[in-house]
Amino acid sequence: MPQNFEATSMRDCLCASIDATMIGSIVTVCGWVAKRREHGEHLAFLDVRDRSGIIQAVVDGSVDVRSEYVVRVSGTVSSRPAGTVNERLATGEVELSDCTVEMLAAAEPPPFQLDDRLDIDEQVRLRYRYLDLRRDVMQRNLRLRAVVNATLRRAMDAQGFCEVETPLLWAPTPEGAREFVVPSRMHPGEFYVLPQSPQIAKQLLMVGGFDRYYQIARCLRDEDLRADRQFEFTQLDLEASFVTQDDVLAFVSEAVLDAAEAATGVRPGVIGSMTWAEAMDRYGTDKPDLRFGMVLQDLSLIFENTEVKAFSAPTVKAMLVPGGASFSRSRLDQLTDEAKSLGAKGLAWFRITDEGLDSPLARFLNEEEALAIRRVDGAEVGDIVFCVADEYALACKVLGTLRVALGSPPVGEGPHHYVWVTEFPMFEGIDEDGHLMAAHHPFTMPHPDDIDLIETDPLKVRSQAYDLVLNGWELGSGSVRIHRADIQSRIFKALGVSDEDAESRFGFLLGAFKYGAPPHAGFAFGIDRLVAIFAGQENIREVIAYPKTQSGADLMTGAPKNITERQMRDLRIKIVVKGS
Ligand code: AMO
Repeated sequence: MPQNFEATSMRDCLCASIDATMIGSIVTVCGWVAKRREHGEHLAFLDVRDRSGIIQAVVDGSVDVRSEYVVRVSGTVSSRPAGTVNERLATGEVELSDCTVEMLAAAEPPPFQLDDRLDIDEQVRLRYRYLDLRRDVMQRNLRLRAVVNATLRRAMDAQGFCEVETPLLWAPTPEGAREFVVPSRMHPGEFYVLPQSPQIAKQLLMVGGFDRYYQIARCLRDEDLRADRQFEFTQLDLEASFVTQDDVLAFVSEAVLDAAEAATGVRPGVIGSMTWAEAMDRYGTDKPDLRFGMVLQDLSLIFENTEVKAFSAPTVKAMLVPGGASFSRSRLDQLTDEAKSLGAKGLAWFRITDEGLDSPLARFLNEEEALAIRRVDGAEVGDIVFCVADEYALACKVLGTLRVALGSPPVGEGPHHYVWVTEFPMFEGIDEDGHLMAAHHPFTMPHPDDIDLIETDPLKVRSQAYDLVLNGWELGSGSVRIHRADIQSRIFKALGVSDEDAESRFGFLLGAFKYGAPPHAGFAFGIDRLVAIFAGQENIREVIAYPKTQSGADLMTGAPKNITERQMRDLRIKIVVKGS
């Protein structure tokens, strides 16, 4: 028998490792009864399942075990009789015969069938997650995740990064999401905050001289849950000193490409990049999905002096949808409604037919305008061209959203297209109090060419912030940080953060920076998202052992739950019922 590391005091090997080379040997396996079939009066077949797969055991019909009983089976590896070989099973040529069966634990009938081919209600799966985890697909997903984690650690270690664990009981961090708070027993009325990310802790590590830090870090954010969002998630978080943006992009690329190679067997090519402005212009989003075309095109010049009212706007953007001429009128109405719900005044469409443009607007276009639409890049008979005329940003956003709705395959399907998006704007609009809002976080370094615009034209200031995007999902973000007090105070001023406010919120960081802060930059990407895409899944729940539902519940434990009177007393917490 080949040597294996799976042997324990109770078993010799894993079920699926048994093959024809072992015929004649006696082996012992442990696992669950996946299926039992009676064979005549005196014999039964048991499919015994462990994490590797299944082996068939031929047992005496009197053996009293049923589905999901835990068993220890010893038997002789034998070839299956002619005609009974199961091609679909890794161990389909062999079986264990002359078996003795020891029942290790009985099991109630499971509340659902543990069969990957069945579509089981997710609520039931999550309620009995420990059973769901026995299914092949969950075994594969979580093991893939472990491979990715191990690979990321290796890649970071090899690049000279040092793993440091940062606290979970922490103080508020300035990353915009609502935070989970933890009441302090020893300091009644005061609270810890669970970290949204190790952002400040890692910047302090730079002051502390750890010039290459990383962590597989658990982060917590109290935000609405979606397919790519959970309250708790995991980042590969890193920070380095004496580096530029290019160095960080290289560190991250190395780790991600290693992980991709380990997960898929293929190492993707060098990750390309585009600026944020280019991403918005061509894809109408900062998370471009590059698996398909339908790139936005600009027709503003053509319509500069148009007579067509619907097109008299600062920007006219167009998008070609191959084959779209077959869209029904009701589908087009539905897309128009969607465009309007995003803020557009309307959605113009032009079917390209043998007879010319087919559209309610066609007769209003002059010859040059009609020709420009007929000739948008790649246009052929049978396609449709959508146009949105509006302010630049809105026109891009609306068509960008329709592009994804019409063209994006499920995120985990098809090829993997990575892209760096760089030069994000420093600020994203103005809040209710009339203050600028930080697009990334307030410690992001402005682009060196734009520093002088902070006071004069802040919305034009580009930052040294960058994202990594995969198949239309934001995988991660990072930036070069501000390490100079003068620039930091100009940014705080622009954000409307007063000196006292800055002191009370981030005093410990700003204070540390007075003692010699090296230039530094960093990044973090979501491991849940990366693994979900590698696993071909559309929801990160599928790659998390114990996720929350959309409404934030843990159906297995029943959390969130009440705590006891005693706990409340210790924490000096009182529930005040509204109206009482
Ligand atoms: P950011 O907030 O962009 O940056 O987060 C980085 C990445 O973390 C993942 N992520 C999430 N994954 C699952 N559920 C969530 N609720 C969730 N929120 C974020 C995403 C995201 O791209 N400290 C900075 C990074 C830095 O500047 O170094 C940060 O956390 O994949």
